[in-house]
Amino acid sequence: MKSIIVSLAVAAGLMVAGSAMAAAPASAKGCKACHSIDSDKKVVGPGWVAVGKKYAGDKDGASKIAANITKGGKFDWKFGMMPPKGGNAKLSDADIKEIATYIAGLK
Ligand code: HEC
Repeated sequence: MKSIIVSLAVAAGLMVAGSAMAAAPASAKGCKACHSIDSDKKVVGPGWVAVGKKYAGDKDGASKIAANITKGGKFDWKFGMMPPKGGNAKLSDADIKEIATYIAGLK
């Protein structure tokens, strides 16, 4: 019985750790210089919660966001220019897809 309680406690601990890790992909670290990754506040670029809202209800939102991160430029926020890949040429397509999926899920 005691071991069941212990393993339940461990499982609960893992779930908490899992949701904390889902907060933002590690590859998004360099984006924080210009983006709030967990609010709609403007830094240099738009807060990612605001971006998530912009694409709310768009089933292609994540792929549009991924394409915009890859090419950079202007997306009607009138905040200036987003550097291609946020200036991090080493970001892989898989990293970008992961970040875009995260942003599309923010509200
Ligand atoms: C040097 C500053 C800077 C960095 C670094 C940067 N961004 Fe941006 N980003 C911007 C600006 C400025 C805009 C808004 C452009 C506009 O006014 O339309 C923007 C816009 C965006 C948007 C909105 C796209 C849309 O469709 O509306 C996304 C998503 C985004 N950035 C993701 C990222 C990601 C991911 C990274 C890191 C890999 C990153 N940014 C790094 C400046 C930056």
